[in-house]
Amino acid sequence: ATGPDLEGRHVVVSAGGTREPLDPVRFLGNRSSGKQGYALARTAAARGARVTLIAANTALPDPAGVDVVPVGTAVQLREAVLKAAADADAVVMAAAVADFRPAAYAAGKIKKKDGQDPDPIVLVRNPDILAEISAERARPGQVVVGFAAETDDVLANGRAKLARKGCDLLVVNEVGERRTFGSEENEAVVLGADGSETPVPYGPKEALADTVWDLVVPRLG
Ligand code: C5P
Repeated sequence: ATGPDLEGRHVVVSAGGTREPLDPVRFLGNRSSGKQGYALARTAAARGARVTLIAANTALPDPAGVDVVPVGTAVQLREAVLKAAADADAVVMAAAVADFRPAAYAAGKIKKKDGQDPDPIVLVRNPDILAEISAERARPGQVVVGFAAETDDVLANGRAKLARKGCDLLVVNEVGERRTFGSEENEAVVLGADGSETPVPYGPKEALADTVWDLVVPRLG
């Protein structure tokens, strides 16, 4: 339903959720399916863009005509995003990136010991990729979009997060019981650094994806 308004553009989309390993068999992860990110990649390709999709632990078919880069951890996702963003017109961070990772990785499987309490898991912060690429735009006029899942005070928390991250657009979801994770539908408000506020009614993730590109296109340098 939309023209080729992303023709000649390179866009980078991150999708899925990072996994932060504890040992060779265990990780700290999250419930992100990657569906919203894949919908963003598909719709951008349909609108004529060259698309790089950085996919963290997704189990979805590669979208046709999209360059898919699989990653595991937040640190790997950062490397892949920074590399692809170097010549990108827009970067959309739809991936659920772990805020923390285990401080230590055990080369062998962690074992339980009779009569002993388990060792606590010590965490360290992961780099905030969205804040980093927003602060250091790889090229002038590059548009950066973030996602935020909030459970309460969605708009106030979204505004604060938009300012903190320094991105151009922030897609704010209200997460609850059956909403968002793994589902085919989504409902959101897209906040702009210019003060704009675009509500997107409950509907297919494709429709939200197209609204995001509708908002990105006029902001492209
Ligand atoms: O701070 P919070 O995790 O709520 O922010 C979500 C947004 O920031 C998403 O766009 C996510 O991809 C991005 N993010 C990131 N690096 C992190 C954590 C989140 O790029 N370490």
